[in-house]
Amino acid sequence: RIAGPSGMVLFGVTGDLSRKKIMPAIYDLANRGLLPPGFSLTGFARRDWADQDFAQIVHDSVKAHARTDFREEVWQQLAEGFRFVPGNFDDDQAFDRLRRTIEELDELRGTGGNHAFYLAIPPGFFGDVVGQLKEHGLARASEGSWRRVVIEKPFGHDLESARELQGILGEVFPSDSIFRIDHYLGKETVQNILAMRFANEMFEPIWNSNYVDHVQITMAEDIGIGGRAGYYDGIGAARDVIQNHLLQLLSLVAMEEPTSFDARSLRIEKQKVLSSVTLPRRLDLTTARGQYAAGWAGGVKVPGFLEEEGIKRTSTTETYAAVTLNVETRRWAGVPFYLRTGKRLGRRVTEVAIVFKRAPHLPFADSSIEELGQNALVIRIQPDEGVTLRFGSKVPGTQMEIRDVNMDFVYGGAFTESSPEAYERLILDVLLGDPPLFPRHEEVELSWQILDPILDHWAAQDEKGKGRPEPYESGGWGPASADAMLARDGRVWRRP
Ligand code: BG6
Repeated sequence: RIAGPSGMVLFGVTGDLSRKKIMPAIYDLANRGLLPPGFSLTGFARRDWADQDFAQIVHDSVKAHARTDFREEVWQQLAEGFRFVPGNFDDDQAFDRLRRTIEELDELRGTGGNHAFYLAIPPGFFGDVVGQLKEHGLARASEGSWRRVVIEKPFGHDLESARELQGILGEVFPSDSIFRIDHYLGKETVQNILAMRFANEMFEPIWNSNYVDHVQITMAEDIGIGGRAGYYDGIGAARDVIQNHLLQLLSLVAMEEPTSFDARSLRIEKQKVLSSVTLPRRLDLTTARGQYAAGWAGGVKVPGFLEEEGIKRTSTTETYAAVTLNVETRRWAGVPFYLRTGKRLGRRVTEVAIVFKRAPHLPFADSSIEELGQNALVIRIQPDEGVTLRFGSKVPGTQMEIRDVNMDFVYGGAFTESSPEAYERLILDVLLGDPPLFPRHEEVELSWQILDPILDHWAAQDEKGKGRPEPYESGGWGPASADAMLARDGRVWRRP
């Protein structure tokens, strides 16, 4: 799979996303030989830069963040296709210049009129840019070529704003030209969920409420909000991560077998799951939220969320969120899905744990059970990519004693192939026009429908002064209320 003649226009070249993810991924793709020889990258920003200045920015970003080795000849060839167009989003002349630049590239580099517009900018500007692309004839391709738009979350901050955003985009780009990035879907280990479930015989028979007690989906981060106060305050953990990454994970874990792996079949199954999700009645008991307090991270003293620069001292934005969801289908009735995410937790780890019911009967004396938890299948999304199966085993010795053990599949040990970075895979798919790994607007809407009542509940608590995010220690595992949430159901969170 190698991309055909094409180019990309990048809005937001000075942002973190461009520097840390998009630019390095483009270089890595070129280095792996997956981009067409004439690929072009055009930066657009309010900077007084020449092409060479832009090339320098890309160069620095590649040097700092690319995954593959720096090879001068690859870089030289790629850099010949770099252009920079200075301008504001409301500057008509700048968009005219952009159009001329693209036409020149089509001539010079053979990009064939195929261009992806990557909006790595705050969503507040999507409307302006998309409107300009339309006005200046950039959004529609001529016969035989394509134009696509790539956007990153947040896709709105609730159902209503998500619909507005879709209205703006949908007016200019047909739905199959809109590529929404949820970078979790670009991760190998996330794609492997479906391979594991549907390429094998042994998991699916027990993948249901007869055997599964509950599911825990954890995305823990050790970092704080860093320099992202402007984005994060008012957004919070649930909107930032649960609405997209964690609900996408849930839908892959819970969905039925798709008729094939094309985008349409996958979408149908994911939407079925998301439409079946319901919330328990008592949101005060089945959700939890927290804010990290000052503490220590990696031996360094770190400020609490409310002391972070740019955060209002009275902010009720949560940096930790845990929710209980039900999936009301025959397969999952009665099996709670617990989702949690937080910043400044003990470790960076994302995992999906399928926790099984206990054996109905144990023909062993109590004294022989040294330590026997519930069997669990843990899909380790990152950073130790792999799968763990946890089950009880006889402890070697002259007596019958049982203790939990782990059986591990580790990517590094099983494969010699290296995993591409999520953005590499997704950018390649954009250029190929391959849609299965991109959420559709319908999924975005359904996800907001799940989350909105929880967000409303928290907002109402704040307003009435009846609650606010509970402080939790940096480097710990979140607020006590999250533990209490599971304890009420007689369960505990895994400590990854
Ligand atoms: C992003 C969130 O989508 O995912 C960030 O906005 C978060 O807050 C990031 O840090 C984590 O991504 P990853 O791939 O490191 O798990």
